[in-house]
Amino acid sequence: MNQIIIESVYKIYGGIVETVALENFNEQIDEGEVVAIAGPSGSGKSTLLSCIGGILRPTSGKIIVDSDDITKFSDSKLVNYRRDHVGLIYQDFNLISQFTIYENVALPLLIAGKKNDFIQERVDSLLESLDIKRYKKTYPQYLSGGEQQRVSIAVALANDPQIILADEPTGNLDLEARKKVLSLLIEKAVAYKKTLIIATHDPFILEKVNRVIHLSKGKR
Ligand SMILES: Nc1ncnc2c1ncn2[C@@H]1O[C@H](COP(=O)(O)OP(=O)(O)OP(=O)(O)O)[C@@H](O)[C@H]1O
Ligand SMILES: [Mg+2]
Repeated sequence: MNQIIIESVYKIYGGIVETVALENFNEQIDEGEVVAIAGPSGSGKSTLLSCIGGILRPTSGKIIVDSDDITKFSDSKLVNYRRDHVGLIYQDFNLISQFTIYENVALPLLIAGKKNDFIQERVDSLLESLDIKRYKKTYPQYLSGGEQQRVSIAVALANDPQIILADEPTGNLDLEARKKVLSLLIEKAVAYKKTLIIATHDPFILEKVNRVIHLSKGKR
């Protein structure tokens, strides 16, 4: 079972002013759930996603994924966890502009040490299923925002991670593109039985997910 259990998590950022971004946060997200994390700006949505994705370590508390507490992982184990279990999608697409669409999607597979034949097949099928195969040899800057976001969904799905984390994935898109990208993202998550967690303000997304977790000042 790829369940995510978040137990008494605090994230306190240091600095000139100390910010309590997550305060005694508890939640359970089951395998295959499609959930949104909603809340005003500064309520801790991105911080929570980063903690689940192993990008940030909570100040205290536990995050149990598949019965392992990832907050106890060594740095190298955490790198492997991110590579093998987590796919990330951001508002600004995070594509590499010097790489073609094909190369962008192939990169995580190369890093994971996959063989060339496997990579070609996998990338082609992902591009096909996200309806962007015709852009294979072109570069991200020649694509529309919605198309670029579909490429970043392909990148996130490439290594077949169990958890997909999307931070304001439709933030920069117009309504039509938002609808298309989001429907595709949810459709793929459900088809491949992924756990999908989306941090967002977008009312359109909140309607489409199974469950909304409301955050306010780092608390539920
Ligand atoms: N690296 C950091 N250093 C210090 N404080 C931070 C850092 N990152 C976030 N914070 C603070 O933690 C709080 C939660 O930030 P977070 O980015 O998680 O909110 P958010 O809900 O994602 O907001 P938004 O909707 O604007 O993206 C905010 O008060 C923010 O200023
Ligand atoms: Mg944020």
